[in-house]
Amino acid sequence: MRETLLFVLLTGLITLARADDCQALNFGHGSVVCACNATYCDSVGRTGLPDPGQFLSYVSSKSGSRLVKTQGQFQKNSTAAALRITLNPSQKYQRIKGFGGAMTDAAAMNILSLSSGAQDQLLRQYFSTDGIEYRFVRVPMASCDFSTRLYTYADTPEDYDLQNFTLAEEDIHMKIPLLQRAQALSAEPLNLLASAWSAPAWLKTNGALIGKGSLKGKPGGKEHKTWAQYYIKFLEEYGKHNISFWGLTSGNEPTAGEMTNYSFQALGFTAETQRDWIALDLGPGLHSSSFPQTRLMILDDNRLLLPHWAKVVLSDIQAAHYVHGIGFHWYLNNIAPPGITLTTTHHLYPEYFLFSTEACAGWNPLDRGVRLGSWDRAEDYAHDIIQDLNNFVTGWTDWNLALNQDGGPNWVKNFVDSPIIVDSSKDVFYKQPTFYSMAHFSKFLWEGSQRVGVSFSKHTSLEVSSYIRPDASAVLIILNRSEEEVQFEVWDQTLGFLPGSAPPHSILTLLWSRH
Ligand SMILES: *[C@@H]1O[C@H](CO)[C@@H](O)[C@H](O)[C@H]1NC(C)=O
Ligand SMILES: *[C@@H]1O[C@H](CO)[C@@H](O)[C@H](O)[C@H]1NC(C)=O
Ligand SMILES: *[C@@H]1O[C@H](CO)[C@@H](O)[C@H](O)[C@H]1NC(C)=O
Ligand SMILES: *[C@@H]1O[C@H](CO)[C@@H](O)[C@H](O)[C@H]1NC(C)=O
Ligand SMILES: *[C@@H]1O[C@H](CO)[C@@H](O)[C@H](O)[C@H]1NC(C)=O
Ligand SMILES: *[C@@H]1O[C@H](CO)[C@@H](O)[C@H](O)[C@H]1NC(C)=O
Repeated sequence: MRETLLFVLLTGLITLARADDCQALNFGHGSVVCACNATYCDSVGRTGLPDPGQFLSYVSSKSGSRLVKTQGQFQKNSTAAALRITLNPSQKYQRIKGFGGAMTDAAAMNILSLSSGAQDQLLRQYFSTDGIEYRFVRVPMASCDFSTRLYTYADTPEDYDLQNFTLAEEDIHMKIPLLQRAQALSAEPLNLLASAWSAPAWLKTNGALIGKGSLKGKPGGKEHKTWAQYYIKFLEEYGKHNISFWGLTSGNEPTAGEMTNYSFQALGFTAETQRDWIALDLGPGLHSSSFPQTRLMILDDNRLLLPHWAKVVLSDIQAAHYVHGIGFHWYLNNIAPPGITLTTTHHLYPEYFLFSTEACAGWNPLDRGVRLGSWDRAEDYAHDIIQDLNNFVTGWTDWNLALNQDGGPNWVKNFVDSPIIVDSSKDVFYKQPTFYSMAHFSKFLWEGSQRVGVSFSKHTSLEVSSYIRPDASAVLIILNRSEEEVQFEVWDQTLGFLPGSAPPHSILTLLWSRH
């Protein structure tokens, strides 16, 4: 007891005992996964605020910590740490909308391949207040590569009035019931976001769902009108199941179908044809439908295309009128610096929000598929999220909520990784390091949290993003991608000095009340 107290006085930190620890399994990829089944899963639990003058610290690391919680005390005097991080709440930036993942056909199949107890456990991990409190779910409209067959909701040729529009088995029996269960577990309404991969083949120049092809005719013509009505039908059909959508994108990766002979579902648009389709068909269609409040995001493709794509669409007053935000994907980010893509776009069009709509690990042909326990991939997530948020992005959406051990199913074998990998033969699922990366943001950055300024007493390779939440509490997220541990202190002028240290290869979330 006295030793504990001494330890507390010396370091200002107490490690709080956790009732439910990670059941760690090491598959030899750098770090561990946490195994969960129908009766057991580690969970972060509710995160209240510490007492005034105290702070909470949550750390996950390559060495195996997973959201390990400690509490400490602000100090009046500097700790003499080599690095001081100063919070500047008067420098205010964008507000956060939230974080999430995608309910693809593959994700739904994997979740449903578990026993109902394990399914509940998995959904709680993502959506409940004991879990990481996702607020966003992206829902593909009809099939994409993460499906086991090719279909749209209107495959009857020449059905321009969409009389035969019908949701698929995958919607009725898999995605919709899971979305309803996720909603029931969530303390707040989930924000759903729909994206279509391909139009029905009979509406397209190439007569197929895959490959290079776009809508027949011109914006304003009958094919383009039908394709806009297809979105509204989709909203109506999901509405019949009491599921409403927060937003839509104008279509997944339009350049895939425009420029390449794509191997899976795609629909080509240029920035110009997307602009005109929104101005003449989708925008007016949504506006006069029962869903005029649905937020419309353009692009939904790599940020490499910014700011050009936004300039083409948003400098047209008619199209811009119907648009709310700009969705983008993380592929090829290494050749698309965030300043000249994201921040430039924000400064050109500050009234349109930026939102990351898709990202996943294991997509690169040189490092493909599932890697159980990869810490590098957790760092890739945290690095990208911090970089996006520090460049005016308001939310970040992961790709498949769950995949199997091959990284599928995917009908073109475009296997990737996911924060949750399901092994139905054992009725278990593994929470990957990327799951905890997401947690360090999604659990703490509530909707409406505002990014604020932060400055450093000297150069550091720590990656840092800081926020004031709607209840005036402060959140600081710190990524250390290096081998070394270095002490630092955070200076908050209302409270004093927070003594901290970032272990090698770690992600930290610090949290305190500023009243
Ligand atoms: C579930 O996991 C817990 C913790 O690892 C273990 O004690 C329990 O036996 C597992 N249950 C089943 C049915 O495997
Ligand atoms: C804090 O700093 C002041 C001024 O340097 C010093 O007098 C005081 O002893 C310090 N307090 C502690 C607790 O170290
Ligand atoms: C399409 O709908 C019409 C009218 O509701 C119906 O008669 C027809 O059988 C349907 N066709 C297909 C292929 O489902
Ligand atoms: C939708 O919600 C309404 C009102 O809460 C309820 O009466 C109805 O049964 C629900 N329908 C479905 C399909 O869940
Ligand atoms: C496009 O790719 C498919 C196979 O995915 C191939 O059969 C077809 O010939 C290709 N078309 C062109 C124009 O290259
Ligand atoms: C984190 O990484 C940096 C960069 O290599 C390293 O110098 C530092 O000691 C590590 N820890 C902290 C807290 O900066």
